[in-house]
Amino acid sequence: MPPAPFNSNPQRWESSLEWARSADQEDPLRALRAHFVLPEEHGVPLIYLCGHSLGLAPRAATALVAEELADWQRLGVEGHELARRPWIGYAERLQPLLAGLAGAAAHEVVAMNSLTVNLHLLLASFYRPTAQRRAILIEAGAFSSDRHVVASQIAWHGFDPADALLEMAPRAGEDTLRMEDIEELLAREGARIALVLWPGVQYRTGQAFDLSRVARAAHDAGCVVGFDLAHAIGNVPLALRDSDADFAAWCSYKYLNGGPGAIGGAFIHERHLRADASLPRLTGWWGHEPVSRFNLEPQFRAAAGAAAWALSNPPILSSAPLLASLPLFEQAGMRSLRAKSVALTGYLEFLLRPLALTVVTPRDAAERGCQLSLRVRGGRGLLGSLRRRGVIADWREPDIIRLTPVPLYNGFEDVWQAAQALTATLAHA
Ligand SMILES: Cc1ncc(COP(=O)(O)O)c(C=O)c1O
Repeated sequence: MPPAPFNSNPQRWESSLEWARSADQEDPLRALRAHFVLPEEHGVPLIYLCGHSLGLAPRAATALVAEELADWQRLGVEGHELARRPWIGYAERLQPLLAGLAGAAAHEVVAMNSLTVNLHLLLASFYRPTAQRRAILIEAGAFSSDRHVVASQIAWHGFDPADALLEMAPRAGEDTLRMEDIEELLAREGARIALVLWPGVQYRTGQAFDLSRVARAAHDAGCVVGFDLAHAIGNVPLALRDSDADFAAWCSYKYLNGGPGAIGGAFIHERHLRADASLPRLTGWWGHEPVSRFNLEPQFRAAAGAAAWALSNPPILSSAPLLASLPLFEQAGMRSLRAKSVALTGYLEFLLRPLALTVVTPRDAAERGCQLSLRVRGGRGLLGSLRRRGVIADWREPDIIRLTPVPLYNGFEDVWQAAQALTATLAHA
């Protein structure tokens, strides 16, 4: 059983620093913070609410990276087999940990490359346009790289993105999408849509989607469906296998705390992994079955599972920090982390209420993760003022500030300090 929800009852929330501190005292997950290094200024920890962009460094990452460097120095090439964690099997170590967070079986998951590369590799397999069914559906305002991926894939297949890239916008005057509108659009337009690429959590608004419903609506319309989980994995509970996604991809430097440029990941549903599956695939030697990979034969024999999509030997130094971070999710349990996250983000919203800002992120906790996106005037200058008050957040043009309390390392006092700083900043704007 997860620990009882703590201080998650909005009736009990108070806006005093004392209350925030006592809420941290009651937090059964408070010890996790010590597993991370908080950036400091003049010896004082900064208030870091930017885990949606780059998660903090797990303390144990230093030793894990140092051990790989030491094994390289000690063993040279023999480290591939003789390192204390042999490099040949390094990506496989991450599989069960990532599978737990993705809600998948270990063989449905592979650690490889980075997010944009993985999206291209997966679209090479799953985007099979025909003249009648050639469109890709994404959300309007998708992250630039995702849009570049789908537009270039459409063009790569000889079609015109102006015709075949569908971008679904919210209703006039609304910031977020309604599930019933997504379903209605797929029912109406689905016959010409080959593939739906949908975010688990939208990067700008922080809206979290019911992925089972998106997948069902896409499949009912005969479309393939894949998820970009950059802002979802490690943030909200996922059940990719049950939600019936065809594929998914993510990066590991946000909520997974893998470090800048950390190795990314991908999921391919079991039904596509069966021996008789006839999916086309771009291949490389690391996707070859491991037992005969080093025979270096010209014929490609696919590894079992999603690992067949790997191309290159994995970057050990940018994989090692994940071995420090991912076990902490297992230790805490995603249910407990989610309970704390709902409480922290709700508390932030509660404290900011007097400012009467537009909260772009859905109000319903079921439709958001850690992140709160607020519409504010003041541009990047506002971010600078917050930074001078010791708060790290970020800004998305033209008018969105994103604040993200992460349950692994943030607490109620962080949220309180950030709310104070934003209140003071806006008062002087
Ligand atoms: C939603 C989304 N897609 C794609 C990317 C690009 O990731 P990468 O540089 O790892 O390819 C990001 C990076 O922040 C992102 O948030």
